[in-house]
Amino acid sequence: MSLPASDRTKQPDGRTTMELGAVLPRTAEVRDGRLFVGGVDLTELAREQGTALYAFDEEHLRHQMQTYKQTFAERYPNSDIIYASKAFLNKAVVRIVAEEGLCLDVSGGGELACARSVGFPASRVFVHGNNKTPRELEEAISAGAGRIVVDSREELARVSRIAGERGLVQEVYLRITPGVEADTHEYIRTGCEDSKFGFTMKDDFALHAVKDALNTPNVHLAGLHCHIGSQIFKLDSFAEAAHVMVEFMDRIRQEYDATLKELDLGGGLGIAYTAEDQPPTIQEFADVLCSAVKDACTEKDYPLPRLLVEPGRSLVANAGVTLYTVGTIKDLPGIRTFVAVDGGMSDNIRTALYHADYEPTLANKADQPRTQIVTLCGKHCESGDAVVLDMPLQDAEVGDIVCVFGTGAYNQTMASNYNGQPRPAVVFLRDGEARVVTRREAYEDLYARDV
Ligand code: LLP
Repeated sequence: MSLPASDRTKQPDGRTTMELGAVLPRTAEVRDGRLFVGGVDLTELAREQGTALYAFDEEHLRHQMQTYKQTFAERYPNSDIIYASKAFLNKAVVRIVAEEGLCLDVSGGGELACARSVGFPASRVFVHGNNKTPRELEEAISAGAGRIVVDSREELARVSRIAGERGLVQEVYLRITPGVEADTHEYIRTGCEDSKFGFTMKDDFALHAVKDALNTPNVHLAGLHCHIGSQIFKLDSFAEAAHVMVEFMDRIRQEYDATLKELDLGGGLGIAYTAEDQPPTIQEFADVLCSAVKDACTEKDYPLPRLLVEPGRSLVANAGVTLYTVGTIKDLPGIRTFVAVDGGMSDNIRTALYHADYEPTLANKADQPRTQIVTLCGKHCESGDAVVLDMPLQDAEVGDIVCVFGTGAYNQTMASNYNGQPRPAVVFLRDGEARVVTRREAYEDLYARDV
């Protein structure tokens, strides 16, 4: 793995931190040249807590959750928001999800265990995954999970058997692949036909699966689910999926005289990773989705189902930043400038994996203009190890504190211990207080499982 060649035509933008727009956490502000979030000085925080460090604006997190809830409730009273915990998960965020009245999407036994450890109501848990193990299904069903999103025929049989053994009837959805090609990176596209997820509608495969589900003992088919992909900007794709799904529900009504009452349209709303990105707002997303479902139901004279959406990234990504300390600087004339930080692909794999874009700033020089183009590389033994590729930064010196924005989703949950790197602590910032909600891994943690 190596880095893409540096874009030598790229010019620094001269922006200061507060000019970075939608990538900033809501409470970001600059005082005396230093970046604050949640009223906390990030430079001081980094020096106290050590780096790399994940820091979250708690007000931003709660604000996103409240906005999603209210916005959908106003447009579609019978709706619920399910937080996709794969984006960012620890006990503290689950408690906030519970307090804000959202439901929780877990994609396996481990995420379910985290939810249960803080008493998250199992009835509000939605269990996902294309190959849940029998053990994970047993755990979910015994816990009383609200809905299991069934992804295959084998799984339908397993859920039926396990629920039957316990004398229960499990509420399930079937995950359908609506055949919608979302405009996003191919690795995170999921609704198209060539997908390992769900039941394809081709050759009436999904329709037959629905029939089987309706006739399977110990399960109750409460509704359908689809998820077309992630980091999507074009809202048309969501509208298209909503239409396909409602038409399919109508077909099920005609063929089997069954009116399904719930429709979960998944997550996928994109966010701003760069100052130039202009993702749709939650309001625009809700407008399109709710209208599409209502229009499709009117067309088919279908009773409005309970509508669910499952956002992950758009709830948490811009609430989170990662702080690092600059360790070394290598200016390779005519090639690029490497600014090396004390983390990398172990705390943010997205840059190596997707060549993702991020905006960096120096927290201790936050009011200075970004005057050079740099690559922020990590400390790992891998040439492709970078956190930020070719982006503007202030004049960097060893010891400066780098803040990378928009790292609240799919960074902490995709972190690794590559090169024996302890995973960073997570702190929540609010009202001038920093609360450590996940402590930094210690060396002992790394080898604690070895026998
Ligand atoms: N529901 C289901 C069934 C999903 O698979 C996902 C994400 C979501 C909801 C939430 O989607 P969101 O609102 O966050 O887009 N690692 C990739 C993203 C993978 C997304 C996986 N599924 C990344 O770092 O971009």
